[in-house]
Amino acid sequence: NSLANAYEGKFLVGTAVKSGTLKSPLPAKNTPECRDFNAFTAENAMKWQHIQPEPGVFSFAMADQLIRIAEHCNGKVIGHTLVWHQQTPDWVFTDDAGEEVSREVLLARMKAHIYTLVGRYKGQVAGWDVVNEALNDDGSLRDTPWRRIIGDDYIEYAFKYARQADPSAELYYNDYNLYKPQKVAGAVRLVKQLASKGIKVHAVGMQGHYSLFYPAISDVEQSITALINAGTNVAITELDVTVLPLPENAHTGADITQSFTAHPVYDPYVDGLPEKQQQDLAGKYESLFALFLKHAGHISRVTLWGITDGDSWRNNWPIRGRTDYPLLLDREGEHKAAYHAVAELVTPE
Ligand code: G3I
Repeated sequence: NSLANAYEGKFLVGTAVKSGTLKSPLPAKNTPECRDFNAFTAENAMKWQHIQPEPGVFSFAMADQLIRIAEHCNGKVIGHTLVWHQQTPDWVFTDDAGEEVSREVLLARMKAHIYTLVGRYKGQVAGWDVVNEALNDDGSLRDTPWRRIIGDDYIEYAFKYARQADPSAELYYNDYNLYKPQKVAGAVRLVKQLASKGIKVHAVGMQGHYSLFYPAISDVEQSITALINAGTNVAITELDVTVLPLPENAHTGADITQSFTAHPVYDPYVDGLPEKQQQDLAGKYESLFALFLKHAGHISRVTLWGITDGDSWRNNWPIRGRTDYPLLLDREGEHKAAYHAVAELVTPE
């Protein structure tokens, strides 16, 4: 009855751990997080704003608890994430006068942060999401303060510092929408360019924030193959499958709160998920895991972005307060049809 055990010898099955859990005593061994998963990523607690909220002020209590949970539950720890443009305090990029710092200053701050965080957990964190979401959907490099101030080589430096801080940890590049051909082409270019500088990317993390309506399994497979052909492994790092419709203007920066109030159709399942959608969700999970199993030789881990539906960030994106059903356990912690579909793929009759 353990998902992770069922997948032993194939790949790790992980989960994101919420900050609330990291502020509580160790979970009992028969709780879902301990029983069903053997890789643990902090959903938020290892991000810059939590680890180093102010210059030189580090806060490791929740990260330390993540290490304890993994040990207690016989799992690995995945570090998320060292360099990202979100959840990074403004002070990182500015001086006392509020002016943008120089390339040298920002590189020094990046180095100090990575050395302190990665160094503290040396030998205890199996792998790090070194750089998160550096690509636009068209495969070009995203405009972020990191890139604007340091230059395109900020990615290279982040990997170098992480390697120096813990030579034995795996290092990942992590991003969403990697089922889009242009974006995965950008990731392939990045991996090859880093390789040409002697920097190994052990795996590209495909976040896997999917929907009942996208992506096509064949698109995911093409991306996996493209990455493997580029000489790197793949990890599915933040898997969830929303069942809710996405407002068409969700990505345009428009005020979608407005359109939501005007169109309650965006929150259709407040009273529970109908059987048909429950089965569709199970089918989607089944085909995704079947695909991951097909490439298991190059897929080291599949991490779900949360444990129960009630925990999921999906309930709050792109609109706050919806009722989504994106994970394998329901709000009561019971196994959903999707859980059984995934488990049965590797459980003999
Ligand atoms: O903890 C506070 C709470 O005290 C406060 O009352 C509440 C009101 O806004 O906010 C709470 O913090 C929220 C936090 O999640 C914990 O729930 C933040 O506002 C919210 O921004 C934060 O969202 C996180 C998001 O990253 C931030 O970008 C999500 O939990 C987390 O699941 C999500 O994870 C990201 C990955 O790191 C990278 N890939 C995409 C993925 C989904 O966005």
